[in-house]
Amino acid sequence: MTETGEAADAPDVLRERMVTSLRERGAITSERVKSAFLKVPRHLFAPEVTAAEVYGAPEGIFTKYNSKGRPVSSVSAPWLHARMLEAARVAPGMTVLEVGSGGCNAALSAELAGDQDLVTTIDIDPDITDRARKLLSGAGYGRVRVLEADGARPLPGAPARGFDRIIVTVGAADLPMAWLDQLAPGGRLVVPLRFRGISRTIAFNREQDHLRSDTLIVSGFVAMQGDSAHAPRVVPLAGQDVRLVVDEDQPADAEALSEAFTGPRHEQWTGVELGVSEGVLPRLEVWLAGTVAPYGKLRATQEAADRGLVGWVLGKGMPAVWDHDSMAYLTLRQDPHAGQERYELGVISHGPGREHLAAHLSDVVRRFDREARNSGDPIVRAFRRDDPEAPSGVTVDKPSIRLTVA
Ligand SMILES: C[S@@+](CC[C@H](N)C(=O)[O-])C[C@H]1O[C@@H](n2cnc3c(N)ncnc32)[C@H](O)[C@@H]1O
Repeated sequence: MTETGEAADAPDVLRERMVTSLRERGAITSERVKSAFLKVPRHLFAPEVTAAEVYGAPEGIFTKYNSKGRPVSSVSAPWLHARMLEAARVAPGMTVLEVGSGGCNAALSAELAGDQDLVTTIDIDPDITDRARKLLSGAGYGRVRVLEADGARPLPGAPARGFDRIIVTVGAADLPMAWLDQLAPGGRLVVPLRFRGISRTIAFNREQDHLRSDTLIVSGFVAMQGDSAHAPRVVPLAGQDVRLVVDEDQPADAEALSEAFTGPRHEQWTGVELGVSEGVLPRLEVWLAGTVAPYGKLRATQEAADRGLVGWVLGKGMPAVWDHDSMAYLTLRQDPHAGQERYELGVISHGPGREHLAAHLSDVVRRFDREARNSGDPIVRAFRRDDPEAPSGVTVDKPSIRLTVA
């Protein structure tokens, strides 16, 4: 029992505990998001599991799997809902479009907008829209509009001036024109975007006709289905044990690169050190997307590491660069000159151009260390591909948009 006489596992008590923990972790930073989280009965949006699981969930709770057993829908984790809604900055009276339904995030958005009629949530899957409609209604949010639609397409009946906020809750590989066209002047788009093997939820502000980021959140999402579904190309370097993740706009000669990988290896250390919780590596990963090309991720299994095929490669992979016949990737070692929690960045490379490529990647990492390491998150801008003002240089080109990173 709590002081107020409620059982310690009562949903209200669990919810308050969750909110306290989200505030302590810095996921909730504003009073308005805090009030919305205290009000919305999150446990009613995942009736398959206990309230304790819902309120204590460290990550999302999967609610549907495809025929291959892959998750296609979930209730996202509380910390992620909180960070995305803080980044969305929904104010009273704003119209909100949520792409990817579940119910919970739409209910939170309705609390922030101050009126359920202002919120529309769409999902490509009729099972999910049926479920969301039922759960929203049961939780007291029956006036939120739930529609079955492919979020990559223009939404019939969207407000003429666009939505003030578009919150995408499914992993996108592009920003379909519909989102740029349906975002009101000065509006904000929050979207989990995959590029160069990296996944970041990015909050963009609309500036004239392009978008400019001001928040980057390291996060993973189930992938988008429908018109804009797109998986990155995977180039096997040592079967499936070591592979390069390559974006659609980048050339990569799979045969030459896998041959390079079987040849001698070159190692070079950069002198750039970092701590695990400093957030430097996630920042460097994004910054590199605007600095080097081609650029992607090298991923490796534990078995590849055990067999000595690769240096130290983190679970989500390490930044990699390549040319026609050589490749190089970043690796880590415990810093021999500093404490246990410090690591030094190095480069491992293969192929005829391995020394040159390793020297180039090391130089770039040192430049990041000098010029960008302490300047906050890189700024990502998104331009329409057909915008004559879209910058050139090192860019990330998607079917609908061109991204720049600085
Ligand atoms: C992570 S879940 C949504 C979570 C939810 N917003 C919540 O409140 O926690 C992602 C959803 O996106 C949906 N989806 C996938 N591709 C889509 C598309 N092209 N358009 C709309 N929804 C899509 C999936 O069916 C899935 O239900």
